[in-house]
Amino acid sequence: MKNIALIGFMGSGKTTLAGILAANLHYQLREIDEDIVRISEYKNVNEIFANKGEEYFRELEKKVIADAVKKNKQVISCGGGVVSSKEIMELLKKNALVIFLHADFKTVTQRLRDTSSRPLFRDMEKAMALYAKRVPLYEKYADIKIETDHNSPEEVAKEIMTTLGKYES
Ligand code: S3P
Repeated sequence: MKNIALIGFMGSGKTTLAGILAANLHYQLREIDEDIVRISEYKNVNEIFANKGEEYFRELEKKVIADAVKKNKQVISCGGGVVSSKEIMELLKKNALVIFLHADFKTVTQRLRDTSSRPLFRDMEKAMALYAKRVPLYEKYADIKIETDHNSPEEVAKEIMTTLGKYES
């Protein structure tokens, strides 16, 4: 398999799952938000948004993903906003199996309640609107959709590994 790309809303468990899957598959872990921060002049995503705005963040995101997909055998954990770019999603579709981690809005709210690291998850009304707008896009681009609401990351990883096995055979 070329690469695996995890997509889904903030708080859907992409980072945790990507770590487990990369270890199980002996793939390289690629955390896109971390790479974006690394090539920026800032310390974290909040600072990038605060100083340069979302558009600039999206430009860096595109650059990092375009670079990431040049390699194979990686689990790529994408930021929740990748689906807003058709160009990025076409790149990912061409170079990765795209897995959508689905979680209800209630679940993501609970998972993110103690974090302040997401600039687009501060105003609940806006976050809910963003969620409603994005879920159909995650669905549209996904090769595989996995529910994460009621299972632990280990259980979800197990389900993905089983699905991947079926995919390869
Ligand atoms: C974003 C999601 C974040 C990060 C940035 C923007 C979004 O990543 O890329 O805050 O637009 O949904 P996670 O989905 O890993 O939280």
